[in-house]
Amino acid sequence: MLIAPNHEPAEFPRKMATMCGISGVVQETGQVGPVLYDSLKRLEYRGYDSVGEASIVDGRLLVKKEKGKIDEVERELRISDLPGLVGIGHTRWATHGAPSRENAHPQTDCNQTVAVVHNGIIENYMEIKQELEAKGHRFKSRTDTEIVAHLVEENLKQAPGLVEAVRQTSKRLTGAYALALISVTEPDKIVCVRRESPLVIGAGINANYLASDIPAFLPRTKSVILLEDDEMAVLTHNRVRVMKVGSGEEVLREPMVVEWGVETATKGGYPHFMMKEIYEQPLTVRNALRTSPMYIDLMASAVTRAKRIFMLACGTSYHACLAATYAFANLAKVEVTPVVASEFIESYGALIDGDTVVLTVSQSGETADTLTAVRSAKDRGATILGVTNVMGSTLTRLSDVYVGQNSGPEMGVAATKTFTAQYSVLLKIAVALARKGGTLSRARMEELERGFEELPKWISAALSNGGGIVKRIVERNADRFSFCFLGRGISVATALEGRLKLLELSYLPAIAYPAGESKHGFISVVDDGYPVLFIAPHDEAYSKIIGNVMEMKARHAHVISIIEEDDTQVANLSDETILIPKGIPSLLTPIVFVLPLQLFAYYMAVRKGYNPDFPRNLAKSVTVH
Ligand code: AGP
Repeated sequence: MLIAPNHEPAEFPRKMATMCGISGVVQETGQVGPVLYDSLKRLEYRGYDSVGEASIVDGRLLVKKEKGKIDEVERELRISDLPGLVGIGHTRWATHGAPSRENAHPQTDCNQTVAVVHNGIIENYMEIKQELEAKGHRFKSRTDTEIVAHLVEENLKQAPGLVEAVRQTSKRLTGAYALALISVTEPDKIVCVRRESPLVIGAGINANYLASDIPAFLPRTKSVILLEDDEMAVLTHNRVRVMKVGSGEEVLREPMVVEWGVETATKGGYPHFMMKEIYEQPLTVRNALRTSPMYIDLMASAVTRAKRIFMLACGTSYHACLAATYAFANLAKVEVTPVVASEFIESYGALIDGDTVVLTVSQSGETADTLTAVRSAKDRGATILGVTNVMGSTLTRLSDVYVGQNSGPEMGVAATKTFTAQYSVLLKIAVALARKGGTLSRARMEELERGFEELPKWISAALSNGGGIVKRIVERNADRFSFCFLGRGISVATALEGRLKLLELSYLPAIAYPAGESKHGFISVVDDGYPVLFIAPHDEAYSKIIGNVMEMKARHAHVISIIEEDDTQVANLSDETILIPKGIPSLLTPIVFVLPLQLFAYYMAVRKGYNPDFPRNLAKSVTVH
């Protein structure tokens, strides 16, 4: 029994990342159109750049899909009128292939016999695609997803049926995916599969449903079957069978009853989108680290050819760039100048030419200050590289090469999973640069690769250990009128990001400083109980930050330190501490040490009665100068 969520949602399975919404229904009577349309509307927060549905009528596949938001596509194609008793649907958040009719889902095989919808990233799609093309398959889209339809088509040639063909196909795929398929060969069923990406089944009366998230079918049934990783399910109108992908053996899985309303369910059981997006980071960071190696390599090549390299962005994206400058210098011995976009042309306009690379980072891909700077650099002959969360955004159109940060829609105005995803992608570019330049020892490269593998676990641990502790620290410090965030080295970027989160959500005047610089001015502000938050991982700067903590303690500051779990020195000097798993390579620390700062800002906003999702005076995408 899933109970009503509280502020620290321990019950709800945390394996979820919002990116694309899939849904499906197989029913005894009626038309699937209205059911699919309604479910996709409830999944629209997961992606809204293109939409599509497929069903089977009289042995033929019917597909309706187009670029655009659900209501726009509905006006054009009347997707709510789709006939048939079995159908699948999809609302997209592009990762592979910009939004277009061809790249919209469902994707189909050569002969329009199989249709598939997908949420996630198939890592080995390129090699499978080449294999299938060699066998004569013709591809219509630039998506990773389309290979699934063709591979099932190929497997149907020798498998006993659709279920087995899908099982064999799934065993070939690597990456994250939730898939739902229908085929004219067996028009009474939907076959679906899950690995990492969320997929839930709704058990109804004379109808069964599937979706990326419970809200999609909640108005029709509160009886939910959760699929585990590497499990598949076969839905007919009166039965749901669950089985293991590996062995094919059946699994008995009792439905659970959900007590939530749709609103709560859309937030995944969390009280706010921001909280949900904070807890999505174990998977969104993993997805970011999966960004296409081919494009990462293309970007690294462009940087190696450049004489001058700038990293350009605003707000949180700028802080991800700031952290990345340490990685580029430290790993690849490449000098990069991080610049706030609104200052770029005035500060560096005269230096930009054909030997300049401008690596631009923007969640929305639509921030006016960033785009203006990019256009001006482009006019001066610079090469534009883009990192964004929105495929098809203006930044992608202005970029010579771009990659996705793959963190899915971010509904909360305050960027959270964006920071960790963007920095992860930029780190991957730095590693590719180091490989090209031979600037990294094998041991260091392996330490980093191990770190990338461990990151989701460290993030989960920091969130589960930190949530309650941070909330109590906020309770104890809620009446303070200002806060200061101090860090050294790469943690300066983490401190700046922590400060931005607090001031934009709690409206408190917060300060952030390189800790070493604090004694050249800020320290005059410190008096009895002034709250100073130290970001103090056990890295190259640790020995120096101890001195800075002592300086603040000497002026009776109230010291709150974010430190590694086995830390003693800074811990003994601090009034309150937040512990982070130990052994995180220093260049990965911004991704984990920022988490308690995101939670700190969130709980302070809630404690002050503000809505953390929609802070005053701010917009998710600032499209004005
Ligand atoms: C961060 O929480 C803010 N929402 C804001 O500073 C944001 O990072 C900035 O406007 C840049 O947005 P972009 O990444 O979409 O370009």
